[in-house]
Amino acid sequence: MLEDATPEMSLLELLDRLNDQLCEQGEEPIAFESDCREGVCGACGVTVNGTPHGPVPNTPSCRQHLRAFGGITKLRIEPLRSAAFPVVRDLVVDRSALDRVIRAGGHVDVMAGTAPDADDMLIGHADAEVALDFAACIGCGACVAACPNGAAHLFAGAKLAHLAMLPHGKVERTRRARAVVETLDEFGPCSSYGECVEVCPAGLPLTAVAAVHREGLRAIFKGK
Ligand code: FES
Repeated sequence: MLEDATPEMSLLELLDRLNDQLCEQGEEPIAFESDCREGVCGACGVTVNGTPHGPVPNTPSCRQHLRAFGGITKLRIEPLRSAAFPVVRDLVVDRSALDRVIRAGGHVDVMAGTAPDADDMLIGHADAEVALDFAACIGCGACVAACPNGAAHLFAGAKLAHLAMLPHGKVERTRRARAVVETLDEFGPCSSYGECVEVCPAGLPLTAVAAVHREGLRAIFKGK
């Protein structure tokens, strides 16, 4: 119980304050993760009153403020819930299942030599903008926790869509799609509920989910 919480406090400041109080009382602090505290790193995800990250849509836990809770004075803060994210301790979960998706295909392996001149490889402005939108994923895992099936299609699709649109990503497009789709066995199947897009701090669109199916099917028919 915290007596001195204020509406201006963020959720993580509330946890900090609670931990101060627990330490003053000689008790163990509550373990939780954070790094940037400004919506960039994706480390801070927790479930608040049943919703990944908290009541404000598309906002990470570190940017949720108590004023958004509309007078609610009791908060139930839990770890992100998903079979793919085993709890390590208190509010800390192991999200290495997402790392395995990245290892499979969230990168480019081609030898690109030294940095080319800026105008050597022209990319249309619209393509660049859309690719950057998909690249905005911060890897928090809230999409997986929000999905009733525990699917990671929004996360995986964002990588596939982002890299498939850019010249350096096209080289390994087929191999990447196969490898990423294989890693999704660790998660649940996607039923296109769309709960993932409601919580995604990067505001990834549902078309990222479609990219998993599109790139996966393309890889099947492509042969190599
Ligand atoms: S602590 Fe980095 S996104 Fe919340």
